[in-house]
Amino acid sequence: MNKEVLILGIESTCDETSAALLRGGRELVTNVIYSQIEEHKKYHGVVPELASRAHAAKIATVVAEALGDSPLDYVAFASGPGLPGGLVVGRVAAETLAQLKRVPLIGVNHLEGHLFACDFEGNEVKNRLQFPLVALVVSGGHTELWYVKGYGNYKVLGRTRDDAAGEAFDKVAKLLGLAYPGGPQVSKQALAGRRDAIAFPRPLLPGTWDFSFSGIKTAVSYYLRDHQPVNVPDVCASFEQAMVETLVTKTLQAARKYKVKHIAVGGGVAANTLLREQMQAQAAQAGIETHFVDRKLSSDNAAMIALAAYKKLEYAKRTGSSLRADITIDPNKKVRSWGK
Ligand code: KG4
Ligand code: ZN
Repeated sequence: MNKEVLILGIESTCDETSAALLRGGRELVTNVIYSQIEEHKKYHGVVPELASRAHAAKIATVVAEALGDSPLDYVAFASGPGLPGGLVVGRVAAETLAQLKRVPLIGVNHLEGHLFACDFEGNEVKNRLQFPLVALVVSGGHTELWYVKGYGNYKVLGRTRDDAAGEAFDKVAKLLGLAYPGGPQVSKQALAGRRDAIAFPRPLLPGTWDFSFSGIKTAVSYYLRDHQPVNVPDVCASFEQAMVETLVTKTLQAARKYKVKHIAVGGGVAANTLLREQMQAQAAQAGIETHFVDRKLSSDNAAMIALAAYKKLEYAKRTGSSLRADITIDPNKKVRSWGK
């Protein structure tokens, strides 16, 4: 493939409006991110209507800033999963630009983006991921465990049945009166607390690869109801330990079951230091290498969309598959793979 191919990626699935330019599938030229955190802060979570309006207000300038006066070969956008309003804004911006510039459009799965974000080292693509691997995609909207043989060949092993892990962090932060987004705030408080102070549940759901975090959140709310005044650092440390232990245990169980030597972790919660330390340490004991996304690209961004689009392009050239198809993992099917 032409090594200097230029792809403009657009991301607008949740509360970041972002556009990025990727050259030759290896060099991130720009990655402009407008974060809506200030809009959503006072509600302690993403308000879909406000998110749609903010995407609509920012998308044109974000795209213009990322593209500058560069030429362009493809436009890529995150076609789902995400909030409907944001998805529409991203799609319309991408289709308009593609038609104006007369270049093809590539639809990319947002979660695939989080996974392939692990390939970046700074602004360079290093292809760090080695297959087969087990992937944990863990963010404010999603918590999923996949078995991955390569680009385009995924098996969704399990996903959360209720709250995403990041959502649980955000909700617990709200219960404690901490700011949004809750993950970093809870982690900060946890540094001064004892991880074994309170025995919050570890919902392992044996026999499935699914997650369920609403019970931990409810256990925290009952604890707060019954133990005022509480030691906030102890609550945060014990909650964080319960969350991390659950994520690490299930990911490692899957890695052993599928006999992989590599684990990849992407998504906003992948920035969590305790998760990084405990996953790394326990995987290493089992002879498994862990690849965490760079913290700078853990939250939503268009660099990961542009890179996933580049992978899709390579894959399409190899297999003759479609670029336009909106590949969204079917929520009604446990297992979905394509490419074989
Ligand atoms: O990937 P992301 O930007 O958005 C979605 O695609 O959902 O993830 C945002 C989520 C928020 O819920 C935030 O609280 C969480 O990631 N998060 C963290 C940390 N940093 C961000 N959770 C735990 N520990 C962190 N250090
Ligand atoms: Zn995301």
